[in-house]
Amino acid sequence: MVLVMTDTTREDIPEFGSEFREKLTDLFRWRRDVRRFRNDPLTDDVLDYLLQLASLAPSVGNSQPWRFVKVEDAFRRKSMRDIFEAANLDALNDYAGEHAKLYAQLKLDGLDQAPVQLAAFVDKETVLGRGLGRKTMPETLHYSVVAAINILWLAARAHGVGVGWVSIINPEQVIELLDVPKDWALVAYLCVGYPQEEHIDPELERAGWQERVDMKKFVFKR
Ligand SMILES: Cc1cc2nc3c(=O)[nH]c(=O)nc-3n(C[C@H](O)[C@H](O)[C@H](O)COP(=O)(O)O)c2cc1C
Repeated sequence: MVLVMTDTTREDIPEFGSEFREKLTDLFRWRRDVRRFRNDPLTDDVLDYLLQLASLAPSVGNSQPWRFVKVEDAFRRKSMRDIFEAANLDALNDYAGEHAKLYAQLKLDGLDQAPVQLAAFVDKETVLGRGLGRKTMPETLHYSVVAAINILWLAARAHGVGVGWVSIINPEQVIELLDVPKDWALVAYLCVGYPQEEHIDPELERAGWQERVDMKKFVFKR
């Protein structure tokens, strides 16, 4: 299947009916952070299509500060595993007793299996957007990259593709390893591929680490 980005050129205003909304809710509920991947490859056209969709994300001043690096080099991928292992061991040392035991059993990355590894950076000095909105809140550049990652995550799920976010890594080591411009900061390291299994509940909930909390507890009035 060849995926072509036709949606942005279509100008007829779409109608999002109740059937679509139900499906969209299913998409949100069934998106998962994936750590177990099948070994079938993810073709470049699928990945590039998902990245095109991600580029429809909102960004401060329309600055589009996302920079994605496809990490293909075998040495670099092996080094990413080493960077993860070191950070994960360090994280494990923060826990004791039952929590340490449970943490050690968690699967927190899919680095060995995922056919695609994608590093997402923010270009902190981009001239796009002419600084609009960034003077008061420079961190909005980072938020813009997260907005793009979220679209990628959901769009991937809609195509049967899984995404797993790996943050247990030293960002400076990743920047050096991937040899990116000095003005870029790491926002996310993503594993992408076809998932081995589908679940409606998050892995960390299934593992007894942290369950979802009723959203009503997080909404306030002033
Ligand atoms: C900013 C961010 C960083 C994350 N880092 C990791 C990580 O290093 N390892 C991991 O297994 N999951 C990571 N996750 C995934 C979360 O554990 C996951 O989103 C959460 O447990 C809820 O599960 P769900 O995404 O399947 O709904 C991260 C998610 C976010 C948004």
